[in-house]
Amino acid sequence: MPASDAVSPLSDDPGSRRGAHRRALVTAGPTEEPIDEVRFLGNRSSGRMGLAIADALLACGWRVTLAVGPIRTEVPTHFREPIPGQEIDRDDPQARLLRFRTSHELEGLLRRELPQSDLVVMAAAVADFRPRSVGEGKLRRSAQGMTLELEGVPDLLASTVPSRKPGARVFGFALEPAERLEASARDKLVRKDLAGIVANPLETMDAADVDGTVFLRDGRVLAPGSRLPKDAFARWLAGVIA
Ligand code: CTP
Repeated sequence: MPASDAVSPLSDDPGSRRGAHRRALVTAGPTEEPIDEVRFLGNRSSGRMGLAIADALLACGWRVTLAVGPIRTEVPTHFREPIPGQEIDRDDPQARLLRFRTSHELEGLLRRELPQSDLVVMAAAVADFRPRSVGEGKLRRSAQGMTLELEGVPDLLASTVPSRKPGARVFGFALEPAERLEASARDKLVRKDLAGIVANPLETMDAADVDGTVFLRDGRVLAPGSRLPKDAFARWLAGVIA
């Protein structure tokens, strides 16, 4: 069955089922937190899950803005970056591409995009810590080594709640060791004020397959029934959340 024919098990409204030109924002990939002008703290997120979800939502008829961090995975060419200086309102293609590097840039992007997003899928692997200050130029090696002071990164999903469009449905991800996956996912659902959370065991990071479960705010727990390649999981997920 093509993704565009996927039926949402959660909605009887054909308009919402197919996206009906409503806007989705999908974030994908890691953040890079600069140490100096050449080094950074990053993580192993490939961005593939977010890219696959963006494509699956597009196939369901959504207008999709894909916000990607610094990834090596190629972004499909139908996602186009806006022309610099052009107003967002005048630049409203079906598939739009925005880029971020740091958690600070992603925070600004969310504040700009959330007010016009009906659906948000936050698949980005945002840093939890970043260097408190950024070294000038390239920090020099020293025999004594060095200590990096890190500060906590704000929880972007929770701290941008006031920027959300009223009625928007926001989905997050939880990547945790299997033994505390469910408890953590349920905690994040409430703490981050989400409609649902996609819980994956730690091994999913950078892997080809996904063994995911979706916990919904209304108490339902949904899973595709088996481990799936990321694009097949994304099509299943698009049917569930859209
Ligand atoms: N997230 C976020 N801001 C952060 C870290 C994570 O918005 N600074 C988002 C992620 O994009 C993801 C969800 O929160 O959708 C869960 O990410 P995770 O790292 O599992 O959550 P944390 O809140 O950082 O979990 P914990 O506090 O338990 O480490």
